[in-house]
Amino acid sequence: MLQKILDDLKTEVKFGYLKKNHPFRYPVLASIFSNSPVQRTVVLRDSTLNFDLLMYTDERSNKVKHFVENSRGSLLFYHPKKLLQIKISGRVVVLRSGPEYDNHWGGLQGRSIKDFVTNNPPGTPIVNPDRVSYKEDEHHFCLLKLIPDKMEYLQLKRPNHIRAEFMKFNDWEGSFLTP
Ligand SMILES: Cc1cc2nc3c(=O)[nH]c(=O)nc-3n(C[C@H](O)[C@H](O)[C@H](O)COP(=O)(O)O)c2cc1C
Repeated sequence: MLQKILDDLKTEVKFGYLKKNHPFRYPVLASIFSNSPVQRTVVLRDSTLNFDLLMYTDERSNKVKHFVENSRGSLLFYHPKKLLQIKISGRVVVLRSGPEYDNHWGGLQGRSIKDFVTNNPPGTPIVNPDRVSYKEDEHHFCLLKLIPDKMEYLQLKRPNHIRAEFMKFNDWEGSFLTP
């Protein structure tokens, strides 16, 4: 049964982000800065064969600074209809080059590119949201890759809630937890 839960967890995450309105497309990504947690919503963009999880961001953003300083990160997924919560934590690597990077940057088009070409770094104060200016010949796109080492599944249901955790150090063999 634990193997089925692990398969279910991976399937929900792997195929959720492909569907436009699936809640797993928008997980919450946590980083650590000065010993404090920092969270923000992101779009999950892709997953690799190893189940590494990919996100896009601006290389000048705070989260990139956080992950360069402390690579530990965590993604939180919640499906309100299924009452299903999944937590995936591990090391976050910032990618600015390589085939995977080129592939994703090459696939971006039109309006999505705007997020990575603002003149000022994300978080810079502005007077008016309509007055953001953009670069024409440079971009700050980067990939964040979460390499999982711990995953947790929690489904609230009757008669019994199901909570299980899976660790990489013992080949993802799972164990049930009291919910
Ligand atoms: C629905 C939604 C999706 C978002 N997706 C992303 C994303 O994929 N990448 C990203 O860098 N920021 C994304 N953001 C913005 C972040 O939540 C955050 O505000 C921004 O990245 C700055 O975070 P930081 O200062 O902690 O780096 C998204 C926000 C929302 C509301």
